[in-house]
Parts: sequence; C-alpha cells; structure tokens
Amino acid sequence: MVFDLEMIKKVYAQFPDRVAKARQVVGRPLTLTEKILYAHLWQGDATQAYERGKSYVDFAPDRVAMQDATAQMALLQFMQAGRNKVAVPSTVHCDHLIVAKDDSKTDLARAVNESSEVYDFLASVSNKYGIGFWKPGAGIIHQVVLENYAFPGGMMIGTDSHTVNAGGLGMIAIGVGGADACDVMSGLAWELKMPKLIGIKLTGKLNGWTAPKDVILKVAGILTVKGGTGAVVEYFGEGATSMSCTGKGTICNMGAEIGATTSTFGYDESMSRYLKSTGRAEVAALADGIREHLTADPEVYANPEQYFDQVIEINLSELEPHLNGPFTPDLATPISKMKEEAAKNGWPTKVEVGLIGSCTNSSYEDISRAVSLARQVAEKGLKTKAEFTITPGSEQVRYTIERDGFLSTFDQIGAKVFANACGPCIGMWDRMGAEKQEKNTIVHSFNRNFAKRADGNPNTYAFVASPELVTALAIAGDLTFNPLTDTLTNEKGEQVKLDPPSGNELPPKGFAVEDAGYQAPAVDGSAVQVKVDPASKRLQLLDPFPAWEGTDLKGLKLLIKAKGKCTTDHISMAGPWLKFRGHLDNISNNLLIGAVNFFNEKTDSVKNQLTGAYGPVPATQRAYKAAGIGSIVVGDENYGEGSSREHAAMEPRHLGVRAVLVKSFARIHETNLKKQGMLALTFADKNDYEKILEDDTIDINGLTSFTPGQALELVLHHADGSKDTILANHSYNEQQIEWFKAGAALNIIRQQFAG
Ligand code: F3S
Repeated sequence: MVFDLEMIKKVYAQFPDRVAKARQVVGRPLTLTEKILYAHLWQGDATQAYERGKSYVDFAPDRVAMQDATAQMALLQFMQAGRNKVAVPSTVHCDHLIVAKDDSKTDLARAVNESSEVYDFLASVSNKYGIGFWKPGAGIIHQVVLENYAFPGGMMIGTDSHTVNAGGLGMIAIGVGGADACDVMSGLAWELKMPKLIGIKLTGKLNGWTAPKDVILKVAGILTVKGGTGAVVEYFGEGATSMSCTGKGTICNMGAEIGATTSTFGYDESMSRYLKSTGRAEVAALADGIREHLTADPEVYANPEQYFDQVIEINLSELEPHLNGPFTPDLATPISKMKEEAAKNGWPTKVEVGLIGSCTNSSYEDISRAVSLARQVAEKGLKTKAEFTITPGSEQVRYTIERDGFLSTFDQIGAKVFANACGPCIGMWDRMGAEKQEKNTIVHSFNRNFAKRADGNPNTYAFVASPELVTALAIAGDLTFNPLTDTLTNEKGEQVKLDPPSGNELPPKGFAVEDAGYQAPAVDGSAVQVKVDPASKRLQLLDPFPAWEGTDLKGLKLLIKAKGKCTTDHISMAGPWLKFRGHLDNISNNLLIGAVNFFNEKTDSVKNQLTGAYGPVPATQRAYKAAGIGSIVVGDENYGEGSSREHAAMEPRHLGVRAVLVKSFARIHETNLKKQGMLALTFADKNDYEKILEDDTIDINGLTSFTPGQALELVLHHADGSKDTILANHSYNEQQIEWFKAGAALNIIRQQFAG
C-alpha cells in the first residue's frame, strides 16, 4: 500500500463537523468545492465566511506531488528548511526528462543514462526526507496520483499545472510553484484566494463516438483559455455520474487549459469502482461512510444559479466529438464541421501522426476503446495511413493493456509504444525530420497544442481529440474524416465504415503490474547522504540568501526598464533552459533575456552603467554583482504573469537585484519575490514609470521603518545631476516584512526549526 490510510481516516473523521460549521458560518447550503475548502482551513473550524474572488485564505493541503523538472528546485529549497522529514505525505515522479524517440526500453535507458545525476539526487532526497519516489518509467505524475493517492474530498497541491487531474476522484487538486510545495512540506499554511465557482451541469449520456474528452473540448470552446481564471469548476448532474472516474479525470485535467484553479466532481459509484479496482477498497468504504458530505448540498444542484458564479449546461446525448486546435486548445470544431473549417483556414488535412496516451488520456477505458478501432483495421481489410504512437500513463496501465492483448493489436497497425512518460506532450519527442520545419498535421489526445509543444516544429498543426477519434483519424490519415458519417476504402476497394468504439471502463481481469516503479523512503532517513557534485552543471545546493543589511538601499543601478508584457517566460525562459532547473547559478544566465528594453526596444541588450556598453542582461547584472553594486528592475503592468516558477524570483535575487518596481504585479510572482527576500514595489503614480531614465541610480528610503501600508520613497538620480523623488507602494504584511529582513521566507522557517 503506497497511500496513507491514516491520513485519509483523519481527514474524514473531521470532515462532517467542519462542513457543518462552515454551513452555519456561511449561512446557506454549500457546493462541494466549498465543503472541501472549508474542511481544509489551516486554522481548523470555520469562523468566518470568505468572499469568493476576494479573500485570501490559509489552507492545509493533505498531500504534495512533484514532477522531476520542478521537484529539483522545490527540494533544494526544502533542504534549506531544516526539517528532518516532510510534514505531509509527498511524492516525486520522474516523467518529464525522457525523450521519446525509438521505443520505450531504448528511450528509458538513454534518459536514465543522461539524467542519472538528477534522478539520483531526487531519489536520495526523497529517501532522506520521507518522500515516496516513483522511478523513471513508473509513469506520469497525474496518472500515478489518480491510481494511488487521490481520494474524494481531499486537497492536494502539485508542482505541475495538470495536478488538477485528481479532481476526477473528487479532490481539490491545484498546481503550484516549488516554493509553495516547499512551504507545505515544511508544515506551513498554503494561501489561496477563495476561488469563484463555475457549475457545469451535465445532462444526458455519452454515446457512440463521444467521449469525456469531448466534454472538456466543448467547455474550452465556450470558456476559452482564460474563462476559468480564479475559479473552480464543479461538474454535476446525471451526465457526470454516468461517466467513468478516469473520464472525469480527463475533464479535470484539461481544466488547466481554461485557466481554472481546478475542477472537481462529487463522489459517486464510478469513483468507488475505481478505488476498488486500484487496490483501495478501504478508501471507498471510508468515503461511503461520509458520502453525503462528498457532494454538494441537494439545494445547490437543484438551483445552481443561486450558488455558482456562472452555470453552463451541456447535454451529453447531443454532444458531438470535437477536434480542438491548431495552436490553441480552445479553438473547438465539432467533427462534422472540420471539412469546411480546414478548407477555410488552410489547415493541412493529411494526418501524419496520431498520438494517444499522456496524463490526460491513458486510462484502461481510453486504450480499450481505441483498440476496438485498431482491431477493425484487420477485420475490415484497411490499412492505417498515419503513424501511430502510444504513451501509457503508468506502468500499471501499460502492463495491464499488454496482458490483455491491446499492445499486440496496436502493434499490428504499426504503432510505436513510447515510455510511460510525458515525451511528445512536453516537446520531448525526437521526431524524425522535425528540424525541416515542414507544414504538417498531427492529432493527439494530450491537453496542450501550442506551437512547437510536441516536436519543436512551429509548423506542426496539432489538434487535440479523444483517443478514439485520434485512432480513427490516424487510420483514415485525414483530418476531415468524420467516422460518424464517412466511409473508408479498404484494400479490396470496398467502402467500409468504422463501428463506434467500445471498451471497458476497468479491466475485467483487474489491474496487474510486476514492478510499479515505486521506491518507499527510509523509515529513518537521518543517515542518508544527499550528494551533489560541486562541479555539476545541472544541480547546485542552495546557499541561504543574505539577510537585509539594516539600512536604506542606496546607489542601485537600473538594470532594465522592461516595456510591455513581461511574463515569467520573459524573466526565466523554459525550453532548453529546462535542464538547468536544479542549478540556480546556471539558470540565472537566462535572467530577463526575453524582456524588451524600453530604451532601445531590444531584448537582452541593456546598458552597463559602469562601462557605458550594451550587453546581455545576465552579464550586465553579474558585472554589478562583481562590483558589489545592487540594482533595480523596472516593469510595466501585470509583471510576472504566467507560470508560478520561482526561478523568476530566485534568479534576480541570486544575481544581486534588490528591488522590482512595476506598474502592477501578477499575484503569484509578487508573492514569490517576497518569499525570496526581494522588494516588490509598485508605482504609487503609474506615470512615474516615465521618470525612470536609462542612466538612473536609485535610492530606496524608508526601509528602517518598513511598515504595512506605508509607501517607500525612491530618489532617482539622473545622469545630468537632476533628481526626482517618487513614492512606491507595497503590499507586505508584518510577516512578509520579516521575510524581507531575514533575507528570505526560508531563512525564517530554518530559524524556527533550529530554534
Ligand atoms: Fe506530462 Fe504532458 Fe501531462 S507534460 S504531466 S503528460 S500535460
């Protein structure tokens, strides 16, 4: 048993009381989302009603999950926290660093060889601090979590945006940055703005060619990539209960594509069946015991408009299979409209590759329905026109579908089985010929289809669909093929029609696996040594950031005045930099290289005030650092939007930037800056942005009496000897001011545990 039954018992033991108190305080029936959130308040029982979309609330999540690309910095920070063991059950999953190229065995062996240093590090830290470790090849984080750890009514955070997948088992599961994971593993509260609520009522029943994936593809078309921002999506209705648990997982998974905080479903029979078939009958029995609390109060679903901020209704009986894309997951086209849309937009219609699997769609049900189509290739004398690949979500699924003969059926249509890992979904696909950048079309059952996402080719038109539809389109080799109405010409020249897919929700013979790839941590890890080679290019132990010197900051040089959009990608790029995520000094060489310099409109070209020469941002900042001079970054509106990666805050801190002064911040980045001991400031008068000149030297005054709600004074010393004095606001509370003084939030955590 890898899951923590005692923890689940504890959560369920207090759940009914906490829900009752919350209902009393809020003074009305509660949605499922509210029940789970109020049952996980950091302080315990609810004492006040929180305003949705406004109040910041401290929560106590039950679990933490991390994938290998983000776990590195999360764990490097955690190692600084001074704890012997993680405070909540946590796991690490090695899935992002495996390149899909030849076949699963060859690809896995290559990755283990190339990334052994990172894997060894993650394994030994996990072993030392009581973290469950899932080896490379064990599977993709979200599938493994669904199979082993997710439980109805639970709350978890994970260092990956598709952590939301666990909503399929009735959780509130949210993607976060590594710094947040570090806090929760250290035993601290986790803050979230009380989300707004979107209710989606599913009526009718899926049938024929339509799959759970089509529900979320349709929702993405309605809400767009931003429509779910700041909200939790709660699904309900007869259509929800008639769907499999893993299908619900698919829907929740792609909630990330509409920007939702997370999505969830109420506990039902499908979840009970899934828990039982994945070896968790005890959890199902416990959930049955508090069943009425693991769904919304009856009044809510009877009158959803009264309780949700927005309500959408979808009739599954009438839902058509969809294809979303290219280049964005919210461009939704029902299959019957694809012919005209493709012609109108000039999309290439020849399907080169069909790819199924990934964390989004690799359940037994998905694969069994796809295989029912693959079987028809031989039965109906067809030939598969496109290449076809499968990335199983876990070793348990892979082993079971092999045992049940599915892989051999896929083999007969020439399919390639990649390792149980992210592979083509995260650009880790060494696709032959991709470097030629030819215009081409692929269809896949993954979740994201941004340009270059799968194979690095900006001219690959990627369309997202259910695994069933992907298989049918790969057989036809044609994007405009509508299996509901169209026929295919077989080898004998006859016209044949594909029968609608059919399959099993769960394996009739049960799941099986020989080696799931799990490594339990040592019971007492105190003697475990974590080794990091000081010469490593990929890993570097962190040194604590120095405490504030106790004085105002004088003589800061302007590093860059960024113009326009400056997201975390502009501040700390991804792509090829992914491999340095565990090495702060090396990844700092991408600091702000994507930001546009206001004064010359160029990226990665700023004036070094010590020499007068223009050069790359990181090199210029390193020159200031070498000279012992602090600096300041100036930015525009919504600075730091995008991902929650803490590298965007740690890099400037590491290189000696002291303050970031902007018109406005994206909230998570602002918090990340504060956590790392930086000054995150906003112009009291946004017009003062214009007063910042290229050769400015800046003083920040008022730090010795740094107080919540009180502006700081900035003196801008211009090159011509003139001066401007401006005010800068901040949103630091008492505790965050202590972070600044200590040099970082982590320094305080460490002091607490040392004390
Ligand atoms: Fe991996 Fe793609 Fe899922 S990167 S975690 S398979 S979204």
